[in-house]
Order: sequence, then structure tokens, then C-alpha cells
Amino acid sequence: MKKDARPAADQWRPQYHFSAPVNWLNDPNGMVYHNGIYHLMYQYHPGGIEWGPMHWGHATSRDLVHWEHRPVALYPDENGMIFSGCAVVDHKDSSGFFEGKPGLVAVFTHHTVQPDTGTVCQSQSLAYSRDEGQTWIKYADNPVLKEPSLPDFRDPKVFWHDTEQCWVMVLAAGDHIRFYASRNLKEWSYTGEFGRQQGSHHGVWECPDLFELPVRNRPRQSRWVLVVSIGGLPQDIEGSRTQYFLGRFEGGCFIGEEPVEKVRWMDGGRDNYAGVTWSDAPDGRRIWLGWMSNWKYAALLPAERFRGAMTLPRELELHHQGGELQLRQLPVSELAGLRAGSALWEEIAVSPQTPFKPDCAAELLELLLEWEWSGMVPGPDSESAYEAGIRLWTQDGQETRIGIDARQGELYIDRTASGESSFHPDFACRHSMKLAPGTGKSPKLRIWADRISVEVFAGEGELAMTDLIYPAAGPFRIEVYTIGGNIRIRTLNMHKLHINQR
Ligand code: FRU
Repeated sequence: MKKDARPAADQWRPQYHFSAPVNWLNDPNGMVYHNGIYHLMYQYHPGGIEWGPMHWGHATSRDLVHWEHRPVALYPDENGMIFSGCAVVDHKDSSGFFEGKPGLVAVFTHHTVQPDTGTVCQSQSLAYSRDEGQTWIKYADNPVLKEPSLPDFRDPKVFWHDTEQCWVMVLAAGDHIRFYASRNLKEWSYTGEFGRQQGSHHGVWECPDLFELPVRNRPRQSRWVLVVSIGGLPQDIEGSRTQYFLGRFEGGCFIGEEPVEKVRWMDGGRDNYAGVTWSDAPDGRRIWLGWMSNWKYAALLPAERFRGAMTLPRELELHHQGGELQLRQLPVSELAGLRAGSALWEEIAVSPQTPFKPDCAAELLELLLEWEWSGMVPGPDSESAYEAGIRLWTQDGQETRIGIDARQGELYIDRTASGESSFHPDFACRHSMKLAPGTGKSPKLRIWADRISVEVFAGEGELAMTDLIYPAAGPFRIEVYTIGGNIRIRTLNMHKLHINQR
């Protein structure tokens, strides 16, 4: 077999993003770092390539790049399916599960539906591991937290709050987030709620996360970041996506500091959902990763043996820029280990008639484009288009465009002609996100492409867009294009990446 030929059943398998060996995967779960190992668990249906009775699949890594598949960590039981949740290191054995030593505790949602009435019941439960996550024991007194009046009551994220000397649980409850506190992970008391009037309510709230980040360029300042995924409404073209709030965490409750109607999106693309961060990541790092899909069409995506992949792991930082706080994200630096060959082009003039088409082709690649407009950049009143960007195209004539629309002040991805899209009418589209204050109109563009996905970061990571694409066959060729104006490429850096899927 030719090295790059794709086995038919794995035609759509990304090569350096995490995917399950077979069958259905959705949200990342149980993400925790312990004794040099990153654990990544995930919503998993071992019985097929559609969503079904949920288990927790499991994988481990030393570097967030190379993953080893492990046996299924949690199976459904008499309390129901295993929905999303987290894992923590119980350093001081507050739970009493570990005979005084540290150990891992998973906190997850048990989900049942009463067959006769269709009533949904969601409650929070524990499982613990005494052997570094190899095997998991369900707690005998599950569930540990119930609110029978709330049908949507799920996706616990727990952290140890040093100031208050207690565990904090953040939970999604339909249209708001609830907070609970505990000293032993087993008994929880309600401490507050947030969000009924805040942010976007275009869909059920799910998969929250809460953490404090230092403001990198303001000594001694920090903010709490509350991440909330929203399931999307059928009439919304965007489908499911993830928002975040900035504020403080006081008295067991998150208090937002921005106008209630303000909505901040984690990712302006269509395919990044249910992302949360690793517990206990070393060196104060805050690393998040999402499910690279969208509930609008997740079940319809082209697939043979498996369906679903994760985004790249990304490091989060808060910065003050353009008069406001911005959450920046860039793929973790460990990914540089995948680089297999590099090329650099410098000082190239590009006009609409003379796009730059370097002679190269790769299925898996990382690009960094630094550039500037050669003339005056027109404002929103201009009549004609004024765009520049990178086109990833294949020999079949399929293409994905990633660009800056200077007139609109936007970063966009155009996947209208990117490949297979017949599975859902909303898939083939061009969509965009507003450039952030202080970013300027010719931001650096960083792009990671992996067969069926593009992840784009503009500026220093203050804008991120993640999209699935389904070109019939690789490799990608690249072209730097402009429409309406001229640009100068300062540097274009391309790295071919290694195949990494085991
Ligand atoms: C988010 C979600 C969670 C739930 C899980 C079920 O994608 O709907 O709220 O726990 O998926 O698989």
C-alpha cells in the first residue's frame, strides 16, 4: 500500500488529533494530570458509531500529543448511563478512598430515563481509582448529589479551592450554572447560582468549567473564567458552541463583571464543543480541549468505523489588549514535536492577479503567516471586497479559505467548497468572527490542518476558529490570495507534520 493511501474505513480519520479506535465519541471527560500522565476520558458508545448508552472511554499521554488507548473506564450501571464529568487528584485523601494516600476521583453524571413516563433523572456520582487510573471503582453510596426538580442537572466540574479549603462543584442546570461545596467529595451543599439572565441562552447550558487565570500583562491581577457550552437551537445556523464569562468567585458563587447581554465565544468556528480544562496541570498551565463537532450534524458526519475527534489541546491565557481583557488560546507547544519538515518563504508581494502558490503539498500541516496590507485599508463603507488569506486546496478542486475581511473587520473560514457536505444543509458555509480590539487588520494567522479539520488562530490567539472539512482526498496545496488589495508576505512558515495516530 502506498504510504499515504487511506484505508477506506479510515478515510476520515484525523492523524494527529485524538479519536477513539472505533465507534462513537463526544465530550472530553475526566481530564486530569497525575504523576506525569495526562488522562483524557470521553463520552463513548462502544456499541456503534451513533450516540448510545454512554460510557467513559480512556486514553493517557505524557505529552498531550501521543495518546495510548486504555480500557473503558466507566460502564453504565443500575444508576444509569455515564454522562460527562471530571476527575480530580484527592491529594489529602479527603474522600477516605485511599488510606491516607493521594488518589484519583471521577465525578460524573448518572443519567436515566423512566421508560413509562419518559422522565429524565440526572444525578452526580463518584468513582475512584487506587491504581493511577487503570481501574475504577464506583462509590457504593452513589449518587452523591440529586435535585429531582431539575431535569437538566449535569456535567460536574470540581476543583479544590485553597482559600476556602473545600471542593467546589460547578454544574449545568438547564439555563444556569449552580455551585456546590464539599469537604470530602461525598456530601455537597448548594452555595449559589449564575447566569439565568446572562450571556447567550440559545440552547441548554452544558459542560461548565471555572478557573482563575492571572492577567499576564498586569502584575498581581487575575480573573475567574466561567466556561459554558450551549446546545444550540434548531433555528440557529451555528448549532452548539461555547461561551465564557469573566468575573470573580466569592462566597461560593461566580459574579460576572461585564454587561449581562455581553457574549464572549471561546471559538468562532462551528466545531468546538463541550471543552473543559485539565485538572492539576503542571506549572500553573490551563489547558483545554473540546469535542471537534457540532450537535447540529454530529450524527451525520461521514464515518465508517468511528465517529468523532477532539480539538488540539490549547493553552489558555488572559491578556489585557485594546482596552479590555481577552482570553487567548494557542495549541500547546508540545505539538512542535510533530514537525517533520519545514519550509520558509519571505518578502513576497501578492496581488489579486499574482497569488503566491508555493510548490508543496501535505495532508497534515502547520502554517504561520505574517503579513501586511501594501496600501490603505478601506473601512466598512467601502463598496468592494478587501480580503486576504490562505486557500487550502486539493487536486480535485476542493478548497477551504481562511482569511481576513478587512472591510468587515473579520476573520473567516469558507468551507462552501471544501468537500463532502451533502449530509447537512448548514454544513457548507462561510462564517466569521469579529477581529478583537487591538488586533489590527493584518493579524498573524496560524493554521493547523489535519485531513478533515482546520484550526485557525489569529493574532496572538485572541481569535480561534475550528472547522471540520471533508475533502475527498489529500494532500493540501496552499495558496496565499488577496481580493481587492495587495499584501506583502513577511514570512510564511510551513511545517509538515508526522502521522501520529496509533
Ligand atoms: C454535551 C452533552 C452533555 C452530556 C453528554 C451526553 O455534549 O450533552 O451535557 O453529559 O453530552 O453524552
